[in-house]
Amino acid sequence: NWNMENFIADQIELVRKQVGSRKVLLALSGGVDSSVVAALLLRAIGDQLTCVHVNHGLLRKGEPEQVVRVFRDELGANLVYVDASERFLGKLAGVADPEQKRKIIGAEFIRVFEEEARKLEGIDFLAQGTIYPDIVESGTKTAKMVKSHHNVGGLPDDLAFELVEPLRQLFKDEVRACGTALGLPDAMVYRQPFPGPGLGVRCLGAITRERLEAVRESDAILREEFHAAGLDKTVWQYFTVVPDFKSVGVKNNARCFEYPVILRAINTIDAMTADVEQVPWPVLMKITNRILKEVPGVNRVCYDLSPKPPATIEWE
Ligand code: XMP
Repeated sequence: NWNMENFIADQIELVRKQVGSRKVLLALSGGVDSSVVAALLLRAIGDQLTCVHVNHGLLRKGEPEQVVRVFRDELGANLVYVDASERFLGKLAGVADPEQKRKIIGAEFIRVFEEEARKLEGIDFLAQGTIYPDIVESGTKTAKMVKSHHNVGGLPDDLAFELVEPLRQLFKDEVRACGTALGLPDAMVYRQPFPGPGLGVRCLGAITRERLEAVRESDAILREEFHAAGLDKTVWQYFTVVPDFKSVGVKNNARCFEYPVILRAINTIDAMTADVEQVPWPVLMKITNRILKEVPGVNRVCYDLSPKPPATIEWE
């Protein structure tokens, strides 16, 4: 009879059989799937696993720190943390086209990971957080996004490792249950979907440090207030967007010309269509007031009321 404890025990045995005394590499993004794979492999093979966490500078506030704390400090994983923020920002400088931005981020991600893989000696396996929907839906947008941004599908031939994919049979809710059974924190197991290109596609047009920080800080405030209001448990995806235009405002009795922050909170089943969450007015006002007070360079907050279609969930 199938239950999570048996599944975990079986996978641990299978991984041990497959890997023997050899070494495994994992690109640990901090997303649900790669985190659960990391936790499972730590149980199965301990320090034969090396995790590489690439910070592309487009992660949410506190995310890289959480990955290091949970996996290196608490679970004792071999974790290589690469802060490649400056490198990514350099490559993205002046690039305004959304698809071009995605391509640059995806390609650079693979390049950084590849460099780290070459530094490590004697790796035979690459672990991936492939889950059942990734296999059956291959060809759809979701699978393509997953492949190009979360998994490392583009490594050169001389780095062609054998794959370890212990979550291949699981649906998303089962992956979460597996993570919980392995002792991962709720914040990691129940985290909302986050695009591979991260805040890069929420800082509209050509990314600047100032607007990227405005996205990161306003997103942190939104998440904090959603958590305080219990909305983080019910709303499918929620985030902020900073466009590349300014509007007039007034601060300290003087005219100012600053950026707006757009709030987005949606519910969906499959991300193909989406409805706007009817966030209670007091929560919206609290978020608005905090953003206006705490985020530099912002003088206006808007709430996006558009369903998908015709809007998409992200702004670019
Ligand atoms: P849209 O904006 O197309 O988004 O309605 C649907 C879902 O996909 C996510 N998304 C992405 N995920 N790489 C990803 O890994 C991407 O380039 C990307 N673009 C959109 C989006 O966050 C939403 O959940």
